Amino acid sequence: MKADLTIFRASILHFSKAMDGANVSPDYFDDGALVVSGDRIVAVGHFKALNAQYKCSLEHDFSGKLIIPGLIDSHLHFPQTEMIAKYGEQLLSWLETYTFPTERKFDDPTYCQFIAQHFIAQLINNGTTTAFAFPSVHTQSVDALFSQASKHNMSMISGKVCMDRNCPEFLQDTPETAQQLSHELIEKWHEKGRNLYALTPRFAPTSTDKQLSLLGELSQQHPSVFLQTHLSENHGEIAWVKSLFPQHNTYLDVYDRYNMVHSRSLFGHCLHLHEQEWERLADTGASAIFCPSSNLFLGSGLFSLEQAQKYKVNVSLATDVGAGTSFNMLKTYGDAYKISQLQQCPLSAIQGLYMMSQGPACAYNLDHEIGNLNPGTYADFVVLNPYSNAMSDLRFESLSRYRSEGAANTTEGIALSEDMLFALAFIGDDRAIEATYVAGVDLKQQLKEQRYALA
Ligand code: GUN
Ligand code: ZN
Repeated sequence: MKADLTIFRASILHFSKAMDGANVSPDYFDDGALVVSGDRIVAVGHFKALNAQYKCSLEHDFSGKLIIPGLIDSHLHFPQTEMIAKYGEQLLSWLETYTFPTERKFDDPTYCQFIAQHFIAQLINNGTTTAFAFPSVHTQSVDALFSQASKHNMSMISGKVCMDRNCPEFLQDTPETAQQLSHELIEKWHEKGRNLYALTPRFAPTSTDKQLSLLGELSQQHPSVFLQTHLSENHGEIAWVKSLFPQHNTYLDVYDRYNMVHSRSLFGHCLHLHEQEWERLADTGASAIFCPSSNLFLGSGLFSLEQAQKYKVNVSLATDVGAGTSFNMLKTYGDAYKISQLQQCPLSAIQGLYMMSQGPACAYNLDHEIGNLNPGTYADFVVLNPYSNAMSDLRFESLSRYRSEGAANTTEGIALSEDMLFALAFIGDDRAIEATYVAGVDLKQQLKEQRYALA
């Protein structure tokens, strides 16, 4: 008996390898098991074999439920947690009317800590274990987010928002302070525990050439640091970029000019791209981040999966809270499905799952740590309970009848799991997330005990 080993029994679905996002095929174990030691996965496979091989001291029996990797939200805004669902504006007036006044509050470190707790609680409640999060311009917002994530050994990627024009003065930095403070925050947080830094110019209109140039220099000096920003979300925004940077052919060119387009770049939205922008994203290995609920909410446009697939651009799914309307990545997939249906190019639930797990992990070169359930990775995983409300009980009644006839083979099991994920995108909610393990600890259980804000 090994004192430090725990075995988790459930059906298991994940992607063990990098795949072409248009053509993904998962690994599936119907009566499966994960063996976990401390914060890491030791083995994944069939329950009977692993139970015999590893003499685990503890067993958690989630039979009839589905374990999937902890989900990755590739783009959202932590200060906007409190302002989800503000009515009636499109991007630029939404920023002026609601967003900038809300972000102003984050000059107060106590307030930053308060919202950081709620933000992380919302992620955990919905099964998200890794987030690429925009904070505000204030360094205290970065400190609050990274320190709260560190308390729970949770994977967090963030970095001070930089803006030196075209926003209220109370949110402006300068080219030099943006560079200096970003540099200091990299030293303080990057690769400290599970934290990773992302240089974060908000978007081209709120940075001068000088600021973009200094941040691009930093990006070149720190090849393991990410870069996250917004690209081509709204027609008014695109026209504005054209007038502010008339010397550049396209929106992406502005970032490219300053060495910001590379394999660790994440571009939120990418709705109205020219062919040469798709080509450049593909050539550099940069990622396009599809934020469906936000795009519908702000009336920004429809992301073209067809174009992304044609040019072989990495696509990750993201909530984009607070223009996004939910922290729930399965619901986010549901909105992506509707958008893809409008374009006669339906996105399957298995493809959707890939875009919130192994897809982004591979695109960001983090798949040795997150995104799958391979041995050696962090024990970040989610237990899905399909029977989580009256509607889902009814919807999945046939599933339970099927199950009582015996174990499903792999093809049947994948089809059943896919049907479950698909339905949960529409009739499920956070109640379907029975447990959210982060580095081997069920943080959702802690949340339940502490009433919706993690200590
Ligand atoms: N573009 C620049 N800032 C933002 C933001 O906060 N949200 C969204 N959706 N788009 C942006
Ligand atoms: Zn955003």
